[in-house]
Amino acid sequence: MKAIAWHGKHDVRVDTVDDPGIINPRDAIIKVTSTAICGSDLHLYDGYIPTMQSGDILGHEFMGEVVDVGPRSTLKKGQRVVVPFTISCGSCYHCGKQQFSACDNGLPADNQDIAQQLYGQPMSGLFGYSHMTGGYAGGQAEYVRVPFSDVGPIVVPDGVEDEQVLFLSDILPTGWMAAENADIEPGDTVAVWGCGPVGLFAIQSAFLMGAERVIAIDHFPNRLALAKRFGAQIVNYEETAVYDALMEMTGGIGPDAVIDAVGLEAHGFFVDNVIDQIKASTFLGTDRAHANRQAIIACRKGGRVSMPAVYGGFVDKWPLGAFMEKGLTLKTGQTHVQRYLPALLTAILEGKIDTTFLISHRMPLSAGPEGYRLFHDQQDEVTKIVLKPGMDR
Ligand SMILES: NC(=O)c1ccc[n+]([C@@H]2O[C@H](COP(=O)([O-])OP(=O)(O)OC[C@H]3O[C@@H](n4cnc5c(N)ncnc54)[C@H](O)[C@@H]3O)[C@@H](O)[C@H]2O)c1
Ligand SMILES: [Zn+2]
Ligand SMILES: [Zn+2]
Repeated sequence: MKAIAWHGKHDVRVDTVDDPGIINPRDAIIKVTSTAICGSDLHLYDGYIPTMQSGDILGHEFMGEVVDVGPRSTLKKGQRVVVPFTISCGSCYHCGKQQFSACDNGLPADNQDIAQQLYGQPMSGLFGYSHMTGGYAGGQAEYVRVPFSDVGPIVVPDGVEDEQVLFLSDILPTGWMAAENADIEPGDTVAVWGCGPVGLFAIQSAFLMGAERVIAIDHFPNRLALAKRFGAQIVNYEETAVYDALMEMTGGIGPDAVIDAVGLEAHGFFVDNVIDQIKASTFLGTDRAHANRQAIIACRKGGRVSMPAVYGGFVDKWPLGAFMEKGLTLKTGQTHVQRYLPALLTAILEGKIDTTFLISHRMPLSAGPEGYRLFHDQQDEVTKIVLKPGMDR
């Protein structure tokens, strides 16, 4: 089959590889009909996530048709499913607490040591996202093996288009959990850094959870325009001093909750960011956390910080003093996708959440390398790329 494979920094290729087969009784094989490129994939593309190997198949946002099942899968051949990017067993201590992205059984035994050393405990498995998260082949491919297929995938009703439901695999639940983690109270002002797919779904979710006002921060006019379409007030950080603008908009108090939907590759010519860039390029540091620092400084006293954005390693100059002195709380994590799927599918079917607005480009799977280049270089025009293996057939 054809698959999009990582071969190094800014080197993504269409490889011909063996078709996947059933390995474990709970596996299913999915014939992929739609798969998206995520902001998280850009962290791989830019070479910031350790333990990638040449030839690794990318992709953690995908859906398709069930074509083969192991004896303990609950899926049936022919069903259409959306697959969560988190690989979770459904029965360990963490899954029992609905903390699916903390599953203890998602990683093969030989992949546990790196994360254990770096983070204290091994992580859960993720599709197409380095060997630290299991080394699983991803879904930017014609076929993909889905472990624990009795727990993760959600069956899509007939008559629903792929594009309505594809984002249940990651960015919609991620934006939703970002807003949930902001503990929004009616009347709140919520500031969201980053108007990529995650930020845009966080904005929609924040309003649905009762925020009175959402302030969206980015520098791409098209992405800010999408935020405005959902009712957010917008701040372009290249034109306006963000802290000053937020203070003015909140009567000097600061936002009640702040959401960092930017992550470890924050842009902008700010002193801390320039130092982070130098450190990252000389292997003295890893993450560029400018947006996160700015969010903490702007947040009101006693406010909440929600961090859906991905960070991988270490940061310095992080305002721990401000965090403590202002009495902030922080919630974060890879999304517990399985927890949110039934309710979010219902919200889509009832028209409460708009998902298709985001897609700017539809391409055949074979155009994957071009898709990565576009999503990386032209983020203003490119809000989300969906790859469709069927366009190649
Ligand atoms: N927690 C999870 O499970 C999970 C799931 C999906 C994505 N993510 C992470 O969420 C983050 C966002 O994902 P995405 O797909 O929306 O990515 P994206 O790259 O499309 O969007 C990021 C946006 O942040 C903006 N930005 C950069 N620097 C900024 C700054 N200083 N101030 C304000 N905005 C700034 C960029 O202009 C861009 O529009 C990434 O870190 C991604 O890895 C996390
Ligand atoms: Zn994703
Ligand atoms: Zn588990």
